[in-house]
Amino acid sequence: MGIKISRFGKLSDGREAHLATIANKNGMTIEVTDFGATLVSVVTADKNGRCADVILGYDDATDYMQNKGYMGATLGRCANRICGAAFTLNGKTYALDNNENGNTLHSGFCGYDKVIWEMKADEAASSVAFSHHSPDMDQGFPGNFDVTVTYTLTDDNEIRIEYDGKADQDTVVNMTNHTYFNLEGHDSGDILEHVLWIDADAITPANAASIPTGEIRPVEGTPFDFRQEKAIARDIGQEEEQLKNGGGYDHNFVLNVDGSVKKVAKVKAPVSGRVLEVFTDCVGMQFYSGNFLEKTPVGKGGAIYEKRNGFCLETQFFPDAVNHENFKSPVLKAGEPFLTTTIYKFSVE
Ligand code: BGC
Repeated sequence: MGIKISRFGKLSDGREAHLATIANKNGMTIEVTDFGATLVSVVTADKNGRCADVILGYDDATDYMQNKGYMGATLGRCANRICGAAFTLNGKTYALDNNENGNTLHSGFCGYDKVIWEMKADEAASSVAFSHHSPDMDQGFPGNFDVTVTYTLTDDNEIRIEYDGKADQDTVVNMTNHTYFNLEGHDSGDILEHVLWIDADAITPANAASIPTGEIRPVEGTPFDFRQEKAIARDIGQEEEQLKNGGGYDHNFVLNVDGSVKKVAKVKAPVSGRVLEVFTDCVGMQFYSGNFLEKTPVGKGGAIYEKRNGFCLETQFFPDAVNHENFKSPVLKAGEPFLTTTIYKFSVE
């Protein structure tokens, strides 16, 4: 138990990044770095008590600077896509970075995943808090925004991620964590046999650039129906427009939530017996089956990550919500708190 702080390598500008290791009484450990407030490792036991690291990532901060797939990172000010790299708020139009097909992905070229956060460990709480000040017009968004992301490892094998922010002008905020999981172990090949359940009756279908059309489409009778658990492999190869657009699963699920933190997903790994449950108060969750995971730098311990070697369950507002009146608004009003919680809980079956 306890928290250990160590060095995690240097950035190109000479600054040093740090790594905090949190352990719980069951022997589970997680590592988080102040570079991008990133979750670096999750080491947890399988059904036979054997431990493995179940998230994809890199060995030091230098590698995380090239982290094109956003492994483990905290994304903000606005995760996911904004159509046309622009939005209008209070009658004014704001231009953002165009970093993907004319649109903004994960806040553009300098997201919160690329900055060093201020780190504060709290041994008694088994938590590490990261704080960041994002100035007015940072990434093109109005208002100063101060945000703290706190990672806590509980003795129930839960990683609690809490976001707490405030802005001094109306702005757009959509924070998420972009961890790629492979419950068989980060270096054990594809995740297709993982069995997934998602508590969602609908998705927000998207065009070929992954921008939502605005429709809320029931999952009934489609490959997106995970209300009865099924292997990710089962329907991923179907000839279906949405799967083609995303190159597999890369879609926002409309979660059955009520404002409280509730269970929205469960994933089981058939060989190791590891189970991941996701709890959140967010309205949406991007299920991304790692379709573009290739040609990433060499990963932890020399691992080579290929297509579909990890999956993400990114809890958030719907993509491009600021440009859709029928989606819950990601506008954060000046002076109001931005508070959300997501929990990744590990067990075995
Ligand atoms: C997106 C994917 C993207 C990935 C890495 C996910 O949130 O939905 O389309 O490839 O992030 O950038």
